[in-house]
Amino acid sequence: MNILEIIEKKRDKKELSKEEITYFIKGYTNDTIADYQASALIMAIYLNGMTKQETTNLTIAMANSGQTLDLSSIGEVIVDKHSTGGVGDKVSLILLPLVASLGVSVAKMSGRGLGFTGGTVDKLESIPGYQTGIDISSFIENVKRIGISMISQTLNLAPADKKIYKLRDSISCVESIPLIASSIMSKKIASGAQKIVLDVTCGSGAFMQSKEKAEELASEMIEIGKLANRETICILTNMDEPLGYAVGNSLEVIEAIESLKGEMPEDVKEVVLELGAYMIKLAGKGEDIEENKVRLLKNIANGKGYETFIQLIENQGGDASYIKDINQFPKATYIEKVYSLKEGYIQSMNAKEIGKIVCNLGAGRIQKEDSIDNAVGIVLNKKVSDKVEKDEELLTIYANSKEKLEEAKRRLLEVIKIQDKIVEKPKMILEIMK
Ligand code: URA
Repeated sequence: MNILEIIEKKRDKKELSKEEITYFIKGYTNDTIADYQASALIMAIYLNGMTKQETTNLTIAMANSGQTLDLSSIGEVIVDKHSTGGVGDKVSLILLPLVASLGVSVAKMSGRGLGFTGGTVDKLESIPGYQTGIDISSFIENVKRIGISMISQTLNLAPADKKIYKLRDSISCVESIPLIASSIMSKKIASGAQKIVLDVTCGSGAFMQSKEKAEELASEMIEIGKLANRETICILTNMDEPLGYAVGNSLEVIEAIESLKGEMPEDVKEVVLELGAYMIKLAGKGEDIEENKVRLLKNIANGKGYETFIQLIENQGGDASYIKDINQFPKATYIEKVYSLKEGYIQSMNAKEIGKIVCNLGAGRIQKEDSIDNAVGIVLNKKVSDKVEKDEELLTIYANSKEKLEEAKRRLLEVIKIQDKIVEKPKMILEIMK
């Protein structure tokens, strides 16, 4: 067997065997298969797809490419949460401390930005001092001691996914059902989650643009969950416009802090409550979904979710004074408001375009080694369906280059569509699949 034959087979739309998939994953993980060969195979998978059997074999090979975690010593059911990606998606930052404040143990391994979407690890790292790369024993110890730890994939868990994830990001091969399903489920299996709640995003700012595609991705992940004996629930959520108002790393952290203090945008709240209610249920801490939502709301109102967030940040070396005083976050050099050119109702704000604009400001990576600028991004003033007057403030841009600021302004004014007729408020929770 050699990698050229495997690439050729997938290029010619043939099904790969379990042995071939395992050979590729082992070789790429231990660097005997080069990036350019892996790129060719990943592109062939992207273009020609995979059968369910191939996707399952890929997931298992990636999950077994490094260590696998056993979280049973925590003594609680570990329910993990993962999103298939979005723009302005700060849900993990709000939801996880919130459910932890209700006694659900959270052992969360998050990702970095991918394509035009942001990543929780990049957002957490915009808090000075916060350590995302702690070792496994400290990770488990943190969960036992304070009920929550959030880290990056720096441990030797699913290292094949770590490499392929970065590679996909740098060769425009992200939006693929087998690649997303295997990426997410391999991490969840390797990281020892017993039950999994997945936020399967759908719309212009998601990797799955249509509901049908999101359903297909969800059912693939549910099936892999069944085979791996991990109960998996998928919540299909709307990602047609950015989630909340802020897009950009520290701007989203600030929005998450304000949300935990009670100022949560309505769309973010809907998603947080639905996912949270299911996490509580799967953890065995509350059967009734509506009652669970009430409990979540209570822990926002009484500040317990916020306190748990501070505890999480302090426990992992972060400087909590930034959380207590958000003015300490470094500010971009250019902060400029953008005003509406006409009156009407916001018809659409293509989230993918907005994600790309924010990436170009410096919040995301173009090359896989690129560093990111935490201070840049945008904060919207309006959401789809809102009424806007001519010359009313639409959004604020945070940039560190005058040229990039001007380009972002021009592109944003094109992306935000305004119409005369009233626009209906979009529904956030599209479907729940088990
Ligand atoms: N999140 C992941 O972890 N992997 C993907 O491929 C997409 C979103």
